[in-house]
This record gives sequence, structure tokens and C-alpha cells, in this order.
Amino acid sequence: MSDKVRKLIIAIDGHSSCGKSTVARQIAHELNYIFIDSGAMYRAVALYCLRNQIIVDGIVDLPRLLANLENIKVYFKWNPLTGQNDIWLNEENVAEEIRLLQVSQNVSPIAAVAEVRHLLVSLQHEMGKSKGIVMDGRDIGTVVFPNADLKIFMTADPKVRAQRRYDELVAKGEEVSFEEIMTNIIERDRYDESREVSPLRKAGDAIILDNSLMTREEQLAWIFDKVSDI
Ligand code: CDP
Repeated sequence: MSDKVRKLIIAIDGHSSCGKSTVARQIAHELNYIFIDSGAMYRAVALYCLRNQIIVDGIVDLPRLLANLENIKVYFKWNPLTGQNDIWLNEENVAEEIRLLQVSQNVSPIAAVAEVRHLLVSLQHEMGKSKGIVMDGRDIGTVVFPNADLKIFMTADPKVRAQRRYDELVAKGEEVSFEEIMTNIIERDRYDESREVSPLRKAGDAIILDNSLMTREEQLAWIFDKVSDI
């Protein structure tokens, strides 16, 4: 691989539960890049808010959230057991807990708060300084790295996305219904697309990848094809 390819910033945005993080992690692994799951950062802040009753029934106590922001430290730490970077919230590894459906059901109102975005985007900029990074999220190609070398906008049929997420959570032993997953996916997309600050939208220069009918291998091949075109 040439030096040029080693120094890229690859931005992967898209709808909820379409496998962005899985594919981003695989690309980073193949290219020997850093992988950053920006959604995990928003989820960690949402977890803090849930634990401290800063969000109750989907309603955010904004003054308390702002007063607490300086107490919320979110960072990634290498886990030698899994060979992955886990997300930490203050002194605790929360990589598992942030995946709970309860967190998915509360993260979007937290992610719509300008000050939360400001804090996390500045951390993401820091992480992208050395390049050689694959970051996935909702606003990576539009706001975080508007000059990214490759921008992909991922999507898939909502039913396919819900089924994949349902299978994932059930495999982990979480008791959830297909309907609540489907509702969460649709509501989260709607919330993320209609918020005022950095709404989810495809960057003008992003390439769409609809993986409804693709295997993981096919999507990886599709992306590497785009990487080699740069
Ligand atoms: O994995 P999944 O697609 O379900 O979601 P995620 O990437 O973990 O993101 C969780 C939530 O965080 C999203 O629904 C957004 O509300 C928010 N998010 C965001 O606003 N901006 C990002 N760059 C990443 C996530």
C-alpha cells in the first residue's frame, strides 16, 4: 500500500443500524488505520444522562446537562483481550452497556444538544489530526471532516436493518421485540435528520452504499474498490 493510501481520512455516515461501525472497523483493520465509532461517544454521554436522571422519558434537563458536561469524560482505550478500542466513560469501560436498547432509545435527544456536539466534535478533530483514520457517524463527512478523502453514505431497507439489530441484541441475551427495534430505528433516523445542529444528511460528495442485499464481503470489496480509486 502506498504512503498516499496510508494517510487518508475516510468518513462513513448513514442511517441507524446499517452496519457502519462493522464495516468501518474492518476497513481500518485492513489499512492499519485508527477506527473511531463516533456514535459510541454520543451513546456514552446518553448513558451518563440516563444514570443521573438528566434524561427522563426522552426529556432532557438541559441546565443540568450543561452543568454536568465538564464531569463527563469520554475516551477510547485499547482492550488487549478483544483487540479493539473500547469506549470509556470516566473511570469505567462502558462498551457493552452503551449498546442496550434503552441507550438507543435516549441517545438522539442528547446528540441534538449543540454543546454536547461541540465537545465531542473537538475530541474527534483531535483524533483525526494524524490522519489514517476511519470514522463513522452521522455528520462526519458534513461537519467533522468535510475535507475527508472518501465519504460514504450507508443505508439499507429499514426492515433489514431492524432484523440485523434484533439478531445482534437477542444473541447478547437482551429481551427485545422486533417491533420496538423497528420503531427505534425509524424514530432515531427521523430525529437525527430533523435536528437543527448537524442533522444527518448525505454530503454532496459522498457515495451512497445501499447494503440491503449485500454480504459483508461484498460491501468490503465495494469500499476497497473506492479506496483504490483515490
Ligand atoms: O449503531 P447505530 O447506527 O445504531 O447508532 P450509533 O452510530 O451508535 O449512533 C447512536 C446515535 O448517536 C445516533 O442515532 C445519533 O443520534 C447519534 N450520533 C450523532 O448524532 N452523530 C454522530 N456522529 C454519531 C452518532
